[in-house]
Amino acid sequence: MCGIVSVLSLDEDCILDRILGAMERLEYRGYDSAGIACIDASAKLHRVRSVGRMAKLRDAVRTDQWSSINGGAWIGHTRWATHGQVAERNAHPHVCDGVAIAHNGIIENYQSLKNELISAGYEFESDTDSEVIAKLIAYYVKTRGLQFEEACRECMHVLQGTFAIVAISQNVPNTLIGMKLGSPMAICIDGQCRNFYIASDAIAMSSLSNSITYLLEGDFVVATRTQGGITYTITSSDGLEVERGVEPNKIQASCVGKNGYESFMLKEICEEAIVARRTYDTFDPRIIDISKFSKVSLIACGTSYYACLLAKYWIEALIKIPTDVEVASEFRYRNPVMVTSALYIFVSQSGETIDTLCAMRLVKERSCTTLAIVNVDGSSIAREADITIITPAGPEIGVASTKSFVSQIMMLLLMCVPKERVDIVQIETAINSVLADKHNMEEIARFIVGSRSVFYIGRGPSYPIALEGALKMKELSYMNAEGYPAGEIKHGPIALIDDEVCTVVIAPHDEYLDKTISNMQEIIARNGSVLLLASQDFREHMREISSHGATECLFLPTLHNVYNPFVFGVAVHLIAYNVAKSIGRDVDKPRNLAKSVTVE
Ligand code: AGP
Repeated sequence: MCGIVSVLSLDEDCILDRILGAMERLEYRGYDSAGIACIDASAKLHRVRSVGRMAKLRDAVRTDQWSSINGGAWIGHTRWATHGQVAERNAHPHVCDGVAIAHNGIIENYQSLKNELISAGYEFESDTDSEVIAKLIAYYVKTRGLQFEEACRECMHVLQGTFAIVAISQNVPNTLIGMKLGSPMAICIDGQCRNFYIASDAIAMSSLSNSITYLLEGDFVVATRTQGGITYTITSSDGLEVERGVEPNKIQASCVGKNGYESFMLKEICEEAIVARRTYDTFDPRIIDISKFSKVSLIACGTSYYACLLAKYWIEALIKIPTDVEVASEFRYRNPVMVTSALYIFVSQSGETIDTLCAMRLVKERSCTTLAIVNVDGSSIAREADITIITPAGPEIGVASTKSFVSQIMMLLLMCVPKERVDIVQIETAINSVLADKHNMEEIARFIVGSRSVFYIGRGPSYPIALEGALKMKELSYMNAEGYPAGEIKHGPIALIDDEVCTVVIAPHDEYLDKTISNMQEIIARNGSVLLLASQDFREHMREISSHGATECLFLPTLHNVYNPFVFGVAVHLIAYNVAKSIGRDVDKPRNLAKSVTVE
């Protein structure tokens, strides 16, 4: 998702590197182009944009022009393409008549605004919705005689959709403006009031300040630079000047490094045992008692949705209350029937997924109870839920969710089973055993690479793990992979089975094992290649199976059935990682993906 960093600085030295460093902390959000703009001490506007990674932008500013700029007003942007293909002309910042803006979100009424501006004689260079913002501000200054700040306020009132916008103008070089509606935005100022920052998230700020202030929906912030220092004011959506809470930035620069691992993805998978333990240790059962509610609805997207699917088995089996699980983007538009006696749980790693956030807002509008399980403290979902539990997975930089998934399912399990009855040592030991099986995982990757496509199948709690495994394979290796209930394969998908299709069978030693093995036999009988993920105590049964067709088997620690998803979940993460690595994929920043999907 797009990332924004901006600064209004009184510093006398060059702050280019500070801005670029903060933008590089936004890389985890996923992007395809980047750019910066600056208004220097002589009110000259500079801009450069590039397609591709931040390294290309760094190369583009390795000039005297940029290195000679001291202080100034800067905006930086990493773009995840929504409107308009990946091209330099579509990269931000967008500029018009000395006004430069960067935008995260979607302007839903951009076409009508664009038509109005074209009729007024403006020509557009990009295919984006965002360019409308720069031109609209410039248009208001030019035709209505508005000051820059007032033109920005007028623009904010006109825009429909979601946005986090920063804006500077060479006609008002001592001002930096931020506007927030629907997309995350935070601010901070250093202790000497010499640098004021606006950015998309706490990670971008982690190298800039120890404190952070999260803006709320409709907030408009104006920072002004004078010789005496920088001051700022925040206006709320109803036009009142407000104070927003200053809180410690819990994400510090030190905890977002690779710590010697070759990738964030590998580092974060290898943290999964520690994260399971930390979640267990920090969970406070007093925060919620699910059994008090008439039913539970879990709502999320992607991997977080699979964690919810898993929780359904646990809640219904262990607490015996009816449980629904919904994809957030479907839930919010189907006019759902809600009951105030129910608990609505929203699970999100980033806490900014717009589908999940808007679904939660819909539930709050109906006066129902919302509980958020979120990994990013201070995120929108974390701040707006009635009850919030922060998963202690720590910053997850790899775009594909891994350790946050383990923390989510541990949190959800602890809501169903008294903490003292969860054998965390067994879980931690089993996960570490899988993590140590590095050689086998690399062998397994070779077995899968070259398949035309991959199925993942499982029954019961192994079905969400099958879905998670397939998603990770898609995200990391770009191979076509689909997760199915094992019992569903024979109802059509089996037509796709041949010797170029690999099926990963998630078959722990639980009550579903025999049926899952039967489904596996149906696939082997049709020359499908099979990778069987089984519990170690199933090893003696393997002889009669491995004699039929191409079958590889990975034995995982045998443990109490309820804990199997932890072990098989880590295994499918490692399998996807090793396949992707073996074919040279960028495992931390897979193509087309964003870490935090803040647009619909
Ligand atoms: C998971 O690996 C993907 N990156 C994606 O499906 C993700 O789970 C989904 O976008 C939801 O994100 P969230 O947990 O931050 O809400």
